[in-house]
Amino acid sequence: MTTMESLIGLVNRIQRACTMLGDYGGGDNAFSSLWESSGKSSVLESVVGRDFLPRGSGIVTRRPLVLQLHKTEDGSQEYAEFLHLPKRRFTDFSMVRKEIQDETDRVTGKTKQISPIPIHLSIYSPNVVNLTLIDLPGLTKVAVEGQPDTIVEDIESMVRSYVEKPNSVILAISPANQDIATSDAMKLAREVDPTGERTFGVLTKLDLMDKGTNALDVLEGRSYRLQHPWVGIVNRSQADINRNIDMIVARRKEREYFATSPDYGHLAGKMGSEYLAKLLSKHLESVIRSRIPSITSLINKSIEELESEMDHLGRPIAVDAGAQLYTILELCRAFDRIFKEHLDGGRPGGDR
Ligand code: GDP
Ligand code: NA
Ligand code: MG
Repeated sequence: MTTMESLIGLVNRIQRACTMLGDYGGGDNAFSSLWESSGKSSVLESVVGRDFLPRGSGIVTRRPLVLQLHKTEDGSQEYAEFLHLPKRRFTDFSMVRKEIQDETDRVTGKTKQISPIPIHLSIYSPNVVNLTLIDLPGLTKVAVEGQPDTIVEDIESMVRSYVEKPNSVILAISPANQDIATSDAMKLAREVDPTGERTFGVLTKLDLMDKGTNALDVLEGRSYRLQHPWVGIVNRSQADINRNIDMIVARRKEREYFATSPDYGHLAGKMGSEYLAKLLSKHLESVIRSRIPSITSLINKSIEELESEMDHLGRPIAVDAGAQLYTILELCRAFDRIFKEHLDGGRPGGDR
């Protein structure tokens, strides 16, 4: 096992352990994204590594999708489950996409209405880290026919309610063929995360820029500075979607695009969907690492409380709870040790 794999296993065990201790600090890390038809759903699919979201021109995502990834035993079969269909396991991910569309229509009607009522979807897979991802309708400027006049403010307050949570990570996704300087999405990101520590700037549609122009000013951090580096992306075009180009092929084409690009060739190693996924998982690791001291103090406090309760009652109680706490403490120590090794580069080649 590489250090990264053992780390992911450990992160999952710690998260499970912390869930047993009660909902520690919100627990989950939510990634959410902004701006309509900028490629948000496409980027989220890439991060998950699965094709299952409705994508397309215009307002396709019309209800928030709260996607929980659950890590399962190695070798077990991947499946998806909706909160509104608890008895049905989906193993065909194209049916997941269809159900998202149908369930959206059930609430909004066949019109282009947007609803703030989220759809909850869980994916169980051996190849994911426990994580919550949220796909949102984009910020729109004008109401389409049939939409209420308040639609613009409605969407903004819905998006805001997700991105203002301090535990959430914001993917501020903008298309390269529009001006990010005037972007409401970037304004909102800056407002809720002024230091930029949880905002990742993602620039899509690099392939659609006018000939002779490029996005180096953004990608190299000159026109809009963020704490994390900007990542450029080339998602599948509408024609690729129509031709059912799968993710493996799409990723290969994206890699080729950067590797052979006269403008971005020198940045090729820090561009693309796979790099973004890696960057986000690194970020997740560091967020969890920064939480270790408070997890440890929470555990110590719980042990003290338990002990004083035992003293008070004068007989041994909650033996199992004590054992559980001990296990968690051990996990945290192991986690800390592996993390230090990882960060110190103690094990060469351990990283992906
Ligand atoms: P969302 O509305 O922000 O969720 O965006 P979608 O992921 O639904 O994509 C909107 C449309 O833009 C789809 O037709 C995609 O094929 C297309 N698209 C997204 N990203 C790119 C890109 O990087 N390059 C090209 N050529 N098309 C893209
Ligand atoms: Na769209
Ligand atoms: Mg979408």
